[in-house]
Amino acid sequence: MALNWVEIDLSALRHNFLQVRARVGSQAGILAVVKSDAYGHGMIPVARELASAGVDFFGVSKCWEALKLRSAGIVQPILILAGIEADDIPEVLEKDLRPAVYRTDHCRLLNEASRGAGKGARIHLKIDTGMGRLGIPDRDLEPFLDELAGLRHLEIEGVFSHLATSDEADKTFSQEQLDRFRRVLRRFHDRGIPVRYAHIANSGGVLDLPEAHHQLVRPGIMLYGSPPSDEILCPAPLRPVMTLKTKILQIKEVPAGQSIGYGRTFTCPRPMRIATVAVGYDDGYPRVLSNRGEALVRGLRAPIVGRVSMNLITLDVTHVPDAAEDDEVVLLGAQGSERITAEEIAAKAGTISYEIYCAIGKNPQRFFRNGSDGLA
Ligand SMILES: Cc1ncc(COP(=O)(O)O)c(C=O)c1O
Repeated sequence: MALNWVEIDLSALRHNFLQVRARVGSQAGILAVVKSDAYGHGMIPVARELASAGVDFFGVSKCWEALKLRSAGIVQPILILAGIEADDIPEVLEKDLRPAVYRTDHCRLLNEASRGAGKGARIHLKIDTGMGRLGIPDRDLEPFLDELAGLRHLEIEGVFSHLATSDEADKTFSQEQLDRFRRVLRRFHDRGIPVRYAHIANSGGVLDLPEAHHQLVRPGIMLYGSPPSDEILCPAPLRPVMTLKTKILQIKEVPAGQSIGYGRTFTCPRPMRIATVAVGYDDGYPRVLSNRGEALVRGLRAPIVGRVSMNLITLDVTHVPDAAEDDEVVLLGAQGSERITAEEIAAKAGTISYEIYCAIGKNPQRFFRNGSDGLA
């Protein structure tokens, strides 16, 4: 097949989606965040699977991602979370995309283009309730709405914000953001502006803040099988979707005192069996896991010894006597009854599972599995 490859389990994705559905009930719609190639899981196959499972909306970061979804036949509404540039407007209208909007100049341009096209543009206003990144600061809402009042070709379909700390156990700041968001929504109500979708809940909000669900929730990471952080207990059992596999290229009996790999950072303290496997940091596996990470060989954990190099990693398989050349090895995912999670790799690498998925998911050898159907 290949020397290393990524497997995506679409039935696990569907299972995780159903966990979100069970959590939010039928009152709230689900916007699946599939930006950044569905966090490395493959935007098109992921979107098709979720569409068939009944997702209501998709969320991407950039306009070109939304266009790619449309070209693949995705008909659900698509929200462009990072907003648009002026150049994007004709396609936004033609493909009925929903841009996040936080600039009045974009509103004026959209309104003008909508008038010309004879077709209203549906927008989602992004409000900054405390993330401090994109969005209309809640204190500046009134002048923004005054400006919008004259733009008759725009339909405010959604009003949304983003939680900065929903993945933390301490919910004080999230509650402050939710209060601000509720005040914002009241101002729309008081001005007689109907809002079909208010939304603020990412995975942390879905799992830990039922009062944040409103009419739409925006899970990302939990669809891919990871909790947003280790501070959040997942009452819903999630199933990891991504697996990274490789093969043993060579096994050697190495005498005590011999060093392994670049920089000679590991020296065998006793005679050891060392397996060299065909994966490295070019495949998204963090180099910082040199002498720290583990892989699964014949269902057992085998420590990485020496440096992770660009295309090769060396494993201590002394305790796995059956290990043989050409054996399949798992760097991320399950083998037998053992599992290495993205959270485990991320903790050792000093990062978050999101970054691990995005990096490993860039592998051009990515195969999609549907339940017991085998690889597609
Ligand atoms: C605006 C917005 N909403 C929702 C999400 C999904 O967040 P999570 O993956 O933590 O569920 C993201 C992800 O970064 C986002 O940027």
